[in-house]
Amino acid sequence: MSREQPRTLQDQVCVVTGATGGIGETTARGLAALGATVIAHGRDVEKGRLAVDRIVQATGNAGVRFVQADLSALAQVRRLAEELDRSLPRLDVLVLNAGTACAHRTVTADGYETTFAVNHLAPFLLTQLLRAKLERSSAARIVVVSSEAHRGTRLDFADLMLEKHYGLMRAYGRSKLANLLFTRALARRLAGTAQTCNALHPGVVRTGIFRDAPALLRGILSTIARPLLLSPEQGARTSLYLSTSRDVAGQSGGYYIRCKPAQPSAAALDEVAAERLWEVSAKLVGEPTS
Ligand SMILES: NC(=O)c1ccc[n+]([C@@H]2O[C@H](COP(=O)([O-])OP(=O)(O)OC[C@H]3O[C@@H](n4cnc5c(N)ncnc54)[C@H](OP(=O)(O)O)[C@@H]3O)[C@@H](O)[C@H]2O)c1
Repeated sequence: MSREQPRTLQDQVCVVTGATGGIGETTARGLAALGATVIAHGRDVEKGRLAVDRIVQATGNAGVRFVQADLSALAQVRRLAEELDRSLPRLDVLVLNAGTACAHRTVTADGYETTFAVNHLAPFLLTQLLRAKLERSSAARIVVVSSEAHRGTRLDFADLMLEKHYGLMRAYGRSKLANLLFTRALARRLAGTAQTCNALHPGVVRTGIFRDAPALLRGILSTIARPLLLSPEQGARTSLYLSTSRDVAGQSGGYYIRCKPAQPSAAALDEVAAERLWEVSAKLVGEPTS
């Protein structure tokens, strides 16, 4: 996983969103295996209970528990942040992993396009609400699970909610570009502090993320492409690397693939777009722009 042994995490508290399966569950398991207290988030209580049972059984670490919140609702993101803030003694690692890819355009209770709301607005708001908690850790790490699907896309600030020309890959790709712009803007705000924020592409991984995709894409993923897909264990490596490795201590604002720095698209390096997205996102979630 890492070029050197990761530190043990006996005294660390880690939160992983979307930990009821796929890359998130494997990331939570990896952190638990290193001795961390792990809060595994998901939206489905039963799935969460089963995931926690599997993690505890696999690692022998009883310090793993589940928190529920549907990230498509900003009120639930706020409730989640409050619960974490109230119940956790500290927060050292926040893995923003939960993600979705919606085949058809739907709108959340807050009136926002669902893929953008779950993949970008929810982690944006959750992080903002947990900033004070993260600041109290000696060197908190924020890890953002983005994707190579960000390539070939640009944000259209006149149509962030994709009212025109909705498509699954268009919505998903833009939300993953938003993850990278968020990472840059947050890293700029964290500069000079001990906290870091980095993003990653996990590889193309055998999970349920494209369960809603058109039959052709699902067919390709389950047949021709299947032997090429990574296991969730392989897919979680870069998340675990950025969460734990001493190699990246103090490194911030980067994009990583296979545990190595990677060059994102030019659109993901656009500082003006990153700042504009930050301001727009803050307004959309009702938070100050700092
Ligand atoms: N798989 C890949 O090839 C790939 C490639 C690049 C990037 N990624 C990224 O990797 C991350 C993890 O995805 P995965 O591949 O492991 O897919 P996954 O197995 O579908 O896991 C996604 C996780 O997010 C949760 N989630 C989805 N919508 C949610 C909502 N509204 N509220 C709360 N939780 C929600 C899911 O909960 P439920 O179980 O209840 O749905 C699940 O725990 C995502 O950010 C994805 O974009 C994946």
